[in-house]
Amino acid sequence: MNDRATIPTLENSAFFMPFSMNRQFKKAPRLLSRAEGMHYYTPEGRKLIDGTSGLWCVNAGHCREKIVKAVQKQVAELDFAPAFQMGHPLAFEFADRIAALAPGDLKRVFFTNSGSESVDTALKLALAYHRARGEGHRMRLIGRERGYHGVNFGGTAVGGVVGNRKIFGALVAGVDHIRHTHDLQKNAFSRGQPKHGAELADDLERLCALHDPSTIAAVIVEPVACSGGVLVPPVGYLERLRAICDQHGILLIFDEVITAWGRLGKPFGAQHFGVLPDLITTAKGITNGTVPMGAVFMRERIYQAFMTGPENTIEMPHGYTYSSHPLACAAGLATMQVYEEEGLLTRAAELWPYWEEQAHALKGLPHVIDIRNIGLIAAIELAPRAGAPGMRGLEAHTKAFEKGAYIRVAGDIIALAPPLIIRKEEIDELFEIVRGVLRTIN
Ligand SMILES: Cc1ncc(COP(=O)(O)O)c(C=O)c1O
Repeated sequence: MNDRATIPTLENSAFFMPFSMNRQFKKAPRLLSRAEGMHYYTPEGRKLIDGTSGLWCVNAGHCREKIVKAVQKQVAELDFAPAFQMGHPLAFEFADRIAALAPGDLKRVFFTNSGSESVDTALKLALAYHRARGEGHRMRLIGRERGYHGVNFGGTAVGGVVGNRKIFGALVAGVDHIRHTHDLQKNAFSRGQPKHGAELADDLERLCALHDPSTIAAVIVEPVACSGGVLVPPVGYLERLRAICDQHGILLIFDEVITAWGRLGKPFGAQHFGVLPDLITTAKGITNGTVPMGAVFMRERIYQAFMTGPENTIEMPHGYTYSSHPLACAAGLATMQVYEEEGLLTRAAELWPYWEEQAHALKGLPHVIDIRNIGLIAAIELAPRAGAPGMRGLEAHTKAFEKGAYIRVAGDIIALAPPLIIRKEEIDELFEIVRGVLRTIN
């Protein structure tokens, strides 16, 4: 525990913080200096329950001994190894390990270092796949309103959170968006998948009619749009999207940066929904957030489309210096071991009913206009304050920090997704803090 007096003032710090209100934060910082299991600790030694798994990534809880030890061992043994025309054994072992968990024939894995890189990699794979098959005219990429696909150029372009796009100009050419599925008039206070809205998938038909389907390479959606406010897909929606893609030869990409690794009670969200995409992007929980890593899974026919021509050609001129970094592979292998030993990839399914009850018990508290949930995710949407959208959400975030919980908000939507190791008493504790916070917000 550090002495409060030793905490430096941050007002003139060089650190340009990402996705943060820099000036406000540096005047009144919320710092975390240690973590263990379900909890963070502030430099003053205050304990906070982690309500959003860090940034939706620490699925097995913090500082897990097996993962920490595996990384410590690895860094002393092989700190870095190039992955271009070279290799190290753990990369192959880890790819096989996670491929075994993937749905259908999505058994080929391309490593990246983040969700953003996974998304841009998947978009490039989609374009190159069509070109390899003689369909290079398929150049358009379709995203969805309110979708979040990271912050690189491709992901920003297909993303649909307006605030994340509007200051960056024209982004990538040939991108369009289908409508989002959020409909509070019909679906408020849904438990699990909302009943209404499967027909919103037909919006893809509208874009096919507008652009001609033979110009469309891929559609990317999050099975559950998490960062954009936890938008759960209506019953039948993902199935319909799959059918339309099949009809027109369009690749379907599921961005599972959050929904993979047990969040919905199965290793991948695709398995929970029973819909098989052509590519899956992941990151975050792949290493329990311990070392940055991402991965793209692809179906066999996509991989095979690249494995043609002379063997002395580089099949995919793409990759990162740190693709399959030894520390990430070591962390990932240890993470998978912890997930397996503790049944964490299916634990959300067991906790789901209890979690759902506790979440929906907040109905009726001031400003709450919707509560929704799926797997071990819940969102509490607050009515925006007149003339100041987002301010109630911000207040909820800072008040929760004062009362002993770390939670994420997207505008006026509180998003909860705790580590999958959470116990029922801790679910109670988390919602009790949120209840207390909601009672004090004006
Ligand atoms: C669905 C989705 N895609 C991509 C990303 C970007 O991941 P990263 O921040 O690791 O680049 C995120 C991050 O929250 C995400 O939720």
